[in-house]
Amino acid sequence: MTDSSHHKELLMEAVRNMTEDKVIKEAIEILNKLFEHELAGAVRYTQYSMMIFGHARKPIQGSLQTWGDESMLHARQVGELITAFGGQVSLGIGKLLDRQYGSIDEMLEQMMLQEVEGIELYHQLMKLTENYDKPGSVMLEEFARTMILEEEQHLSEIEKMLRKRGEAFSHLFED
Ligand SMILES: [Fe+2]
Repeated sequence: MTDSSHHKELLMEAVRNMTEDKVIKEAIEILNKLFEHELAGAVRYTQYSMMIFGHARKPIQGSLQTWGDESMLHARQVGELITAFGGQVSLGIGKLLDRQYGSIDEMLEQMMLQEVEGIELYHQLMKLTENYDKPGSVMLEEFARTMILEEEQHLSEIEKMLRKRGEAFSHLFED
């Protein structure tokens, strides 16, 4: 075998490992759930942002729109990973709003629940990379970890918005 055909063989092997591996196939399934989840997040935050009225409308609307943009960015990053592993992106979308909201607190609580769902999916993704050392493993693990960090920071932002003025701790911890 010539040097160059040997190299080609090695490269093909590496790509095959990355696109046909069982763990990668499972990762693509989770990534597609995340793709749908993040896309729906972008839509939901945009819709929520149009349901904010009252004195603090502008800053709250601004935060929601920023989070919507972040969700869209996350969807694109997730999509890039799916295609990097030879997968195809889902054409579906996650759960969207099915009613109008009149209370900002209620909206924020819904947002927290949805953020928790996202974090769970990113954790599933990170768990897959435990004891996995084939090509793509660090890409997956680092991505999942970074996203969990971002979503957790985001979750705590929402939770702080749910506190009442002067409260140091969340009312969510009380019965
Ligand atoms: Fe996200």
